[in-house]
Amino acid sequence: MSTKSLKFKNDLIYFDNSATSFPKPDEVICGVVSVLSCYSANPGRSGHKLSMRAGKAIFDARLKVASYFGVSNPMSVVFDVNATALLNLAIKGFAYKGLHVITSSLEHNSTIRPLMRLKNDGIISMDIASGDMHGILSIENLEELKNSNTKLLVINHTSNVTGATQPIKKICRWCRKNGIVTIVDASQSAGFEDINMKKDCIDILCFAGHKGLYGPMGVGGMVINDEFDYKRIKPLKEGGTGSLSEEITQPQFLPDIFESGTPSLPMIVGLRAGIEFVEDNMDAIKSKKIELEKYFIDKAKNIKGIKIYPSKHRNGVVCFTMKNISASKITEILSEDYNIMSRQGLHCAPLAHKKIGTFPTGTVRFSFGYKNSIKQIDKAIEALKGIEV
Ligand SMILES: Cc1ncc(COP(=O)(O)O)c(C=O)c1O
Repeated sequence: MSTKSLKFKNDLIYFDNSATSFPKPDEVICGVVSVLSCYSANPGRSGHKLSMRAGKAIFDARLKVASYFGVSNPMSVVFDVNATALLNLAIKGFAYKGLHVITSSLEHNSTIRPLMRLKNDGIISMDIASGDMHGILSIENLEELKNSNTKLLVINHTSNVTGATQPIKKICRWCRKNGIVTIVDASQSAGFEDINMKKDCIDILCFAGHKGLYGPMGVGGMVINDEFDYKRIKPLKEGGTGSLSEEITQPQFLPDIFESGTPSLPMIVGLRAGIEFVEDNMDAIKSKKIELEKYFIDKAKNIKGIKIYPSKHRNGVVCFTMKNISASKITEILSEDYNIMSRQGLHCAPLAHKKIGTFPTGTVRFSFGYKNSIKQIDKAIEALKGIEV
């Protein structure tokens, strides 16, 4: 890396951690590099020492993910390239003709699009629970929508638009009592909220490795509760697993039933390091994000023409618009003139923007991370004052 690019990194203000967290902790970078430089062999395929070491590294990562989310069987952790792949697997793999699904108005396109596909193909029927003004669901909302075919709830734990966070324990416990399977999208909550799938009665949880868990891009996970029969999910892909190679049909045991093809070993090892980083720094990460969000909102209130969209929860995510200037123009100016990285538009969550009344133009989103500082927020406030109208 050249000195010039290092300098750029230091000057840069990165407020786009909900899209992907940056910078990554050194431990994560070391994890990825250690694989590429020391044991980049194909795990579970060959019998040689290096391949065994690679296989052990993946197993250790499964153990870490399982204990992090409160399940006891490491084999019920399934890796793929991102949360989207695993949400597609969980949703489409579970769906059957006649199923009625309840979902929320805060869903990301990675859940709502697979659901719409199934609905438009005439496989499922679906209701989108609107919830309160923040999109937060109550048991009464669910009671109203439930019918005798309701056997699946798909829910985004934390909104990537407003940070609104569902009372997941209450909702999933109610679902368990009512025989409704739960698929929780923890892409934004993992690494911030305490999640214990056993205690919270979550059947299936999907997460992105590269956001709040500080792993690299290229890995996501699906975790299946010990009490859930994984055979209720049909695999969406078949192929080489390194196991039962004499058979021309897919192995039926976990995790091979869902994992075909060479896994992203460097990314999986990086993810494990990211989770360890989060475990070691949980309190500091949480309080930093809360402090930064609060500080930004307090200061930004005084900027002429700004509208900040309220959220019930403080987790480092703030959306705002400014009068007479589009969200995309603001992010362009912030990036080009001030070296501040933020994200404009609908954030792949059109329903959430409809909910808060910012569809179709969207908002600017600042999403803070553990490396951001009060000083950087002061700079952003000055920048926004510079573009206020
Ligand atoms: C709530 C939510 N779910 C799912 C995803 C999809 O994650 P990935 O792009 O890693 O598949 C995102 C990404 O922004 C998200 O915010």
